[in-house]
Amino acid sequence: MENDDLRLVPTPVAAAPIDTDLPQHIAVIMDGNGRWATRNGLPRVAGHRRGVDAVKALVENCARRKIPYLTLFAFSSENWKRPSAEVKLLLELLTSVLESEVRKLHENDVCLRIIGNLSRFSPRVRLLIRNAQELTRSNSSLNLTVAVNYGGRWDVTQACRQIAQQVAHGDIDPAAISKDTVARHMSTSELPEPDLFIRTGGERRISNFLLWQMAYTELYFTDTLWPDFTDDDLAKAIESFAHRQRRFGQTSEQVTAAHRAQNA
Ligand code: IPE
Ligand code: IPE
Ligand code: MG
Repeated sequence: MENDDLRLVPTPVAAAPIDTDLPQHIAVIMDGNGRWATRNGLPRVAGHRRGVDAVKALVENCARRKIPYLTLFAFSSENWKRPSAEVKLLLELLTSVLESEVRKLHENDVCLRIIGNLSRFSPRVRLLIRNAQELTRSNSSLNLTVAVNYGGRWDVTQACRQIAQQVAHGDIDPAAISKDTVARHMSTSELPEPDLFIRTGGERRISNFLLWQMAYTELYFTDTLWPDFTDDDLAKAIESFAHRQRRFGQTSEQVTAAHRAQNA
């Protein structure tokens, strides 16, 4: 039987003492590019282009703030339903950013991971992704994960499929399947769970992002449209996080007592 204890606190990642007020892993739904463009009298694609600038700024700001994990939702498994010209442009943008930014990420000690169902992408794009991950795999200042053709339900489903295959081969006893087993087969198995989730663009929903991983993530919503998201907005989200009490099912008194004991 494997270890299935009740800890949901993300594993500490840095050797240095961790500032618990600072989220170690931020996950972001970057929403509102289309509305930003419409409001500025521009085609939607212009919003996506400006969105890329906001992504670059966020990556730099997270690195500067010493946030070790950042996960971005770039293209959902449902976004294929958009007009084909928009889908095409979004995928072209993704590819060109991969081509132009990877070296800079590497120079800045950023480890890049791409998660999602990559089977729908061309061999050329899959090779670009593989090379980028290979080049940056030993970097450790910032772990940047980009979710493309990603869906939370897809992630849970592919984990189930892998576990079922192991059961079919007799490698694992169904009675031994725990939540740790499932977590190990999720595409985020190398990442701690997100501490803070930010969604821009005013919608208050998860839109099939990290469904399994965000069981205890603090949620933060802002009306700011993604291309307008600045370091001040990031600071506000982090500030909001610092005022939350994460109880993981315990009472407030228990959490306060544990905190006191830790700091004694
Ligand atoms: C987010 O902005 C980018 C992607 C989904 C790829 P949207 O394109 O969803 O912008 P709105 O929600 O239509 O304003
Ligand atoms: C979520 O935004 C996906 C990404 C930002 C990549 P959407 O704009 O697709 O979400 P819905 O459709 O409004 O829920
Ligand atoms: Mg949207």
